Amino acid sequence: MKNCYDMSFKGIGNKEVGFLLPVEQNCDVPFTIKRIYYLYDVPLNIRRGYHAHKKLEQVLICLKGKVKIQVYDGNVEKVIVLDKPTKGLYIGPFVWREMFDFEDAVLLVIASDFYSESDYIRDYKQFLILS
Ligand code: TYD
Repeated sequence: MKNCYDMSFKGIGNKEVGFLLPVEQNCDVPFTIKRIYYLYDVPLNIRRGYHAHKKLEQVLICLKGKVKIQVYDGNVEKVIVLDKPTKGLYIGPFVWREMFDFEDAVLLVIASDFYSESDYIRDYKQFLILS
């Protein structure tokens, strides 16, 4: 699949004392970090996303709970389950994403740029033309 892949992180620590997981820019994630945000309290029956980006790169990590991410690059489609804080999903440009089945999830998004509505492709037909 184009511009989208699973990532795996390693926490420091052990079961006795717990874990700490650092994420450094241009190292643990393949871009300079300009923004983070997180989704929380999303009801189970809600599906979000429905967009792609033109330039933005993101890494998604579910810090708590569980969530499913459906991604489509215009050719290949897959669903990834994020259910532990050591698992990540890289999503680059021109990947349509929908997030669903939020189960008490806190979904962290690490992003390569500031929020810009002009970087969004929210029209699915437009996405199919561009991808
Ligand atoms: P959106 O990216 O569409 O959320 P989702 O894909 O999870 O459904 O953003 C929802 C709203 O929040 C939209 O009005 C834009 C706003 N927003 C910001 O103001 N700053 C941000 O960093 C993000 C990600 C969204």
